Amino acid sequence: MQDLDVNEITDAVIAQMATTPDPRLREIMEAAVRHMHAFAREVQLTPDEWLKGIAFMTAVGQMCSPIRQEFILLSDVLGLSRLVNVMHDAKGREAAGTETSLLGPFFREGAPEVPLGGTLARAEGGPEILMFGRITDTEGRAIPHAVIDLWQTNAEGLYDLQAHDPSEMDMRGRIRCDAEGRYHVRTERPLGYSIPMDGPVGELVRQQARHGFRPAHIHILIAAPGFRELVTALYLGDDEHVDSDTVFGVSKSLVVTTSDDLPDAPMKGVPAIRYDFTLSRESGEAGGRVGSDPSRLVPAG
Ligand SMILES: [Fe+2]
Repeated sequence: MQDLDVNEITDAVIAQMATTPDPRLREIMEAAVRHMHAFAREVQLTPDEWLKGIAFMTAVGQMCSPIRQEFILLSDVLGLSRLVNVMHDAKGREAAGTETSLLGPFFREGAPEVPLGGTLARAEGGPEILMFGRITDTEGRAIPHAVIDLWQTNAEGLYDLQAHDPSEMDMRGRIRCDAEGRYHVRTERPLGYSIPMDGPVGELVRQQARHGFRPAHIHILIAAPGFRELVTALYLGDDEHVDSDTVFGVSKSLVVTTSDDLPDAPMKGVPAIRYDFTLSRESGEAGGRVGSDPSRLVPAG
């Protein structure tokens, strides 16, 4: 029988877990225990506070459903999703490749095919914008016929799943670039939106006096044979929350503004965003990622 003080308890747990046959599980759990114990010591965690923490995590679990993933939302607002994705990127993305961003919970397979120059909007709504550019490899060579999935909120800040009958897709589409890797597509100006605030994560965000908003953005997923799937988003630079995204998805290189006088815009009279995407070659790194969009874990919600 050991008498374990506040430091010895950590070593005792790690020693007992040393029998774990899977070396990666052993490494992860050892570090998790070391850091959790250090955290408890640092803040001098009390039993009451730890019970509150357990109640919070219980509520997070109970909020999860086939269309709601509160744990991923928690990971997002704590910046852990961003951190894990950035580390993943550092391994597989070529330096010149377009930066990635969170996938989000609103991606849906089977979005309607939209011809080049067509629109993502099924009905008249908010102000129209045009997006155009090229898809190339990191040497600037065109990638012909890459497939781009785009999805976004409407002018009210709602995804189709939130706006109306979820069986109807809207404000999303799949376009195919031409032989020179060029694309252009019309859509509506998206609006920023709040993360779901009706669960324990929203309650935490409120207690922290954070606003809970994501800046207006357009989600993009680009696939082409031989290249790493690119999951990213473009953020509108004039959104008031572009510097304080609640889930930390924004990178400088992904911030865009619309312009009325881009000389090479394939359509005139519509505010346009020009953005060229650069795909990294496939490196064998698995493409899994975490995002405030658990679409890869559960049916889109
Ligand atoms: Fe989003």
